[in-house]
Amino acid sequence: MSRLLLALETSCDETAAAVVDDDLAVRSSVVSSQVDLHAAFGGVVPELASRAHIDTITQVVSRALDEAGATGGDLAAVAVTSGPGLVGALLVGIATAKSLALGWDLPVVGVNHLEGHLASVYLADRSVPFPQVALLVSGGHCMLTRALAPGHYELLGETVDDSVGEAYDKVARFLGLGYPGGPVLDRLAAGAEDTLGFPRPMLADGYAFSFSGLKTAVVNHVRAHPDVRQAEVAASFVAACMDVLCAKMRLALEEYADPAIAIVGGVAASPVLRARAEALAAEFGARLLIPPQRMATDNAAMIGVAAWHRLAASGPSDPGFGPEPDLRLRFS
Ligand code: KG4
Ligand code: ZN
Repeated sequence: MSRLLLALETSCDETAAAVVDDDLAVRSSVVSSQVDLHAAFGGVVPELASRAHIDTITQVVSRALDEAGATGGDLAAVAVTSGPGLVGALLVGIATAKSLALGWDLPVVGVNHLEGHLASVYLADRSVPFPQVALLVSGGHCMLTRALAPGHYELLGETVDDSVGEAYDKVARFLGLGYPGGPVLDRLAAGAEDTLGFPRPMLADGYAFSFSGLKTAVVNHVRAHPDVRQAEVAASFVAACMDVLCAKMRLALEEYADPAIAIVGGVAASPVLRARAEALAAEFGARLLIPPQRMATDNAAMIGVAAWHRLAASGPSDPGFGPEPDLRLRFS
């Protein structure tokens, strides 16, 4: 009989719980989004996020267990995101996970959120080849790695300033389109062409990324041309982001000839990025590994998968662990 674990994710603005078995099958995945709460502020307000996590976490956990048809007695472990993220938000998940683990007499596993995203490719297909050229593009991070095995990564390059998701969110906020910026800019972009030719920052600078200058170029253009169509701005901005992301992946595929490309993190929900990545994979004869669209953004199922990998590699965490807001990925 397969073993089950309960995973929690509260690092930012989603309260999430999932039950994942040791074959990495997702038995349930519940995500309660706080987007409406933060939308009016154009970004996540940390204190509101923590309070909303406190209000919803027990319901979210109950639903995840109910939908999996499981109780505490059926579980082998409790997993939780330990960082990076907002300290108060992380604390709610960690305190909940530790209390449940104590009550049910179970081990607890702290999981790096970034390892969770990198493990999200298993949510689409459980036969995953290595090594992979793995692009992690979220609200908080933008990095190109090589995944050598679960939990073993080599850093190729990362952003020197903003992440690509952050640039999406800042541009959307500037245009008065609310938060998060990704889905709304993608929708607008679908109705226009790249006519404005924004800069492609650091296109020829190896594996390093930069998105802050692109955001400023968008803002300056809109200030100088207040009548410009928003769809045109969105399409031109998205095209510039995608050209940069794809150029870096292409460079890595040329250098390493890895059999797979992985694209993870909230921006992997972008239909434009998904289509461009498919074309790139076909060109290099590589397999495209990408989570299902709704599992690209934060969820607990990916934390559950990464937790099984962690348990196999190094066992449960020391129960004294706390939130690590600036936790980084460990590189081999
Ligand atoms: O992974 P995630 O949920 O949270 C972090 O770990 O940061 O990523 C959130 C980011 C936001 O910046 C959001 O604008 C972006 O992912 N995003 C998208 C799309 N959906 C969410 N970006 C582009 N296209 C989308 N459809
Ligand atoms: Zn995330």
